[in-house]
Amino acid sequence: MNDDAKPLIQLSDVWKVYNLGEVKVEALRGVCLTIESGEYVALMGPSGSGKSTLMNMLGCLDRPTEGSYLLDGEDATSMSRNGRARLRNRRIGFVFQNFNLLARTSAVENVELPLLYARGVSASQRRHRAVEALKQVGLGDRLHHHPGQLSGGQQQRVAVARALVNDPAILMADEPTGNLDSKTSREVIQLLRTLNEESGITIILVTHDQDIGRHAKRILVLHDGQIVEDTTDFGTALRSLHRDEDHLVVPPPHTPAQGAKRPEGTSKPMG
Ligand SMILES: Nc1ncnc2c1ncn2[C@@H]1O[C@H](COP(=O)(O)OP(=O)(O)OP(=O)(O)O)[C@@H](O)[C@H]1O
Ligand SMILES: [Mg+2]
Repeated sequence: MNDDAKPLIQLSDVWKVYNLGEVKVEALRGVCLTIESGEYVALMGPSGSGKSTLMNMLGCLDRPTEGSYLLDGEDATSMSRNGRARLRNRRIGFVFQNFNLLARTSAVENVELPLLYARGVSASQRRHRAVEALKQVGLGDRLHHHPGQLSGGQQQRVAVARALVNDPAILMADEPTGNLDSKTSREVIQLLRTLNEESGITIILVTHDQDIGRHAKRILVLHDGQIVEDTTDFGTALRSLHRDEDHLVVPPPHTPAQGAKRPEGTSKPMG
C-alpha cells in the first residue's frame, strides 16, 4: 500500500463498554471514522453522548472494548500500555479544559515538561524548544511567569505551547475553552486555527460552544455513542444538535427534574 494514502486516523466499528457490575454502559457503539492529516475536526453532542470517551480513544489514553484503531497505520488496539504511551508521546499533544499546568513552575518550565521524557534532548535544547513554542503562541514575553501570574487565556496558551513542544502531528483538546470567557475563547480558537492553517497540524477538539464548532472545517455530532452527523456544513451540524436537544427538558427552578438528563456516571438502559 502507498504510504501517502494511509489515513492519519482510522477507527473501525469501535465499541467502548463500561462494565459496572450488573449494568453495562455502552459509551461508544460501533464508531467508524477516518481523519486525514491536516483536518480540523470538532466533536459535538449532548452531555454523555461519548465525546470524551471517543477523544480518549483517539488519544490512545484508553482502548476500545471492540473494534480497531489505526493511528498513522499503527494498530493502537493491540499495543501494550507502554507502546500506546510511546505512540501518544510521539504523535499527539493534549490540551485540557483546566489547563493542567504546574502551579509553582514558570511558563517555560511547564512547556519543557514533555521533553523530559524525550530521549536525547539536552537541557539547553529543551529550553530552546520551549521558548520557541511559547513564542509561537504569542507568549515570548511571559516565559518566567507562573500560572497564577497569567490570565486564563494566557494559561491555556501555555498549555497549547506544551502540547506543541514535541512537534506532534495531532493536537487534541477536550473543551479547551470551557473555563474561559467568550473573548478569551476566541483568542484561543484563533490560535488553534492559525496552527492548523499555517503549520498543518491536525486538530481534533470537543466543544459545546457553537462559536467554536463553527470554526472547525468538519463537525462530527455524537448522540448516544454513535456519530449521527459528519459534515463540513455547520448549519447541518446545528440542526442535528438541536434535534438531539429536543428531548432535553430544562426544568424551571425548584421543580423536580422530570425528563432532565441523568447525571454522568449513572447507567441508563441501552436501546
Ligand atoms: N469510567 C466510566 N465508567 C462508567 N461509565 C462511564 C465512564 N466514563 C464515561 N462513562 C459513561 O459513558 C457515557 C459517555 O461519557 P462521556 O464522558 O464520553 O460523555 P461526554 O459526551 O464527554 O459528556 P460531557 O459533554 O458531559 O463531557 C456516559 O453515559 C457516561 O456516564
Ligand atoms: Mg466530556
